[in-house]
Amino acid sequence: MVHTKDFHQNNSIFAAPIFAGMKHYQKEINKRRTFGIISHPDAGKTTLTEKLLLFGGAIQEAGAVKSNKIKKGATSDFMEIERQRGISVATSVLAFEYRDIKINILDTPGHKDFAEDTFRTLTAVDSVIVVIDVAKGVEEQTEKLVEVCRMRNIPMIVFINKLDREGKDAFELLDEIEQKLNLTVTPLSFPIGMGYDFKGIYNIWEKNVNLFTGDPRKDIEETVKISDLKSDELDELIGDNAADTLRDELELAQGVYPEFDRDAYLEGRLQPVFFGSALNNFGVRELLDCFIKIAPPPRPKESDTRLVKPEEKDFTGFVFKIHANMDPKHRDRLAFIKIVSGKFERNKNYLHVRNNKNMKFSSPNAFFAEKKEIVDVSYPGDIVGLHDTGNFKIGDTLTEGETLMYKGIPSFSPEHFRYINNADPMKSKQLEKGIDQLMDEGVAQLFTLDLNGRKIIGTVGALQFEVIQYRLEHEYGAKCTYENLNVHKATWIEAEDEKSEEFKDFKRVKAKYLAKDKSGQMVFLADSQFSLQMTQQKYPSIKFHFTSEF
Ligand code: G4P
Repeated sequence: MVHTKDFHQNNSIFAAPIFAGMKHYQKEINKRRTFGIISHPDAGKTTLTEKLLLFGGAIQEAGAVKSNKIKKGATSDFMEIERQRGISVATSVLAFEYRDIKINILDTPGHKDFAEDTFRTLTAVDSVIVVIDVAKGVEEQTEKLVEVCRMRNIPMIVFINKLDREGKDAFELLDEIEQKLNLTVTPLSFPIGMGYDFKGIYNIWEKNVNLFTGDPRKDIEETVKISDLKSDELDELIGDNAADTLRDELELAQGVYPEFDRDAYLEGRLQPVFFGSALNNFGVRELLDCFIKIAPPPRPKESDTRLVKPEEKDFTGFVFKIHANMDPKHRDRLAFIKIVSGKFERNKNYLHVRNNKNMKFSSPNAFFAEKKEIVDVSYPGDIVGLHDTGNFKIGDTLTEGETLMYKGIPSFSPEHFRYINNADPMKSKQLEKGIDQLMDEGVAQLFTLDLNGRKIIGTVGALQFEVIQYRLEHEYGAKCTYENLNVHKATWIEAEDEKSEEFKDFKRVKAKYLAKDKSGQMVFLADSQFSLQMTQQKYPSIKFHFTSEF
């Protein structure tokens, strides 16, 4: 049912060379695959990451990749956060080579309180792998994250995990994925049995059977080529019953699901599905082999002035993550830059567009599975970590002089709001600086009420309040307290006509609920869903946006 047309073609996305050295440069771009793995916690993201690294020879044994998830019921949340922060710098980018392809896996926190971190990281990936637990099916976090990817047309491959356990029927699951995630799927492998009866998978993509032995130490699987599904070979291999069932199921699948088409996948219109068991290292090799063939090399990116292509000669890149240094004595931070175009070179001058300032970096870090090291040159698709003393904030753009800014790193309306108060008047400078830097890092959002200048912190999860309090004290020597505040949502205001009577009336009547975000944009803080709806109805010429970028 799956036709491999177009697949094994040259991956090149480039036209004729346009500058000297272009050939080598094109080769470097073409060999890169930068992606993220997304899932609901516990579906198996960490286990799959680890198995992928094993294939790449980047780590030697299982257990080397530490999960950065916040454990439920951890004894002390902030200690857990500190532990997690330490790990998350180590696992932010995991790079390795596999079959001459440079793979960059960007880590995405699974915990829902850190969802915004994950959304931002998704602006730096060129594709994603979605992991789904065969027994649990589509879960809440998967829905949210897939929605973001779908909106941005990010190519997605689905990996259904834990086939060694009893779970949902394959067709039922594929249906669920289509309905809940609003995707169009096509299986590229198909399970033979499940749980206790799990015999292996038929690889539709490679046309072979991979038998399950349940031996996780096996890193190279033995597959049996089956060129004709009707042949007795299949019966001998998996038994008459299983062979007949498989034939029926594959026939059905062929009738129901579209043929795999790489362009449709690359445009985000079709999502291939693989089945396996990450823990048992089963089905992972198939996933990886297909991934390196079909997943896109670095993709062009939209900026405020134009679309920038990776093969352009001049360097451009943007900050998608900032990680504060773990050592409170040295307040330097690591800004993670995704390279969009051109070569990034050590000690070369680049323009920090927002600050209109030239900067050069003597020790840019590149990340590998178990270490980071200083690199001289990096290419589109790569992530470099730059030491920063407070110049960067999320979304900042670096170029070779062109004044363009990358789009697509919006702030979402927070879910939780509290007033923040200074608990130590002697340390107000420290508090201000701390809040400023933590907001630049994207830990939370700060709003200042128009009416009285009071500061409000908005977060995605309740955990962040604890993070902020703890980090203000330990990294900045400042103390804060919180005060509850009844806000349902923050919406960014856009007026059709700022001089209109309607807008003036809105500002007067709602003065108490108006604030500015950190960049000075006007925000309406609605205290309930009802009052938001009423306000929207009353002022039809005003737009209430749920993200800061519109
Ligand atoms: P996450 O990063 O998505 O949160 O998930 P993680 O890989 O940590 O996996 C969650 C749990 O599921 C782990 O068990 C892991 O061993 C298990 N798991 C992952 N893949 C498979 C699979 O293919 N089959 C089965 N049966 N289990 C799988 P845990 O008990 O929570 O943790 P641990 O003590 O094993 O580390």
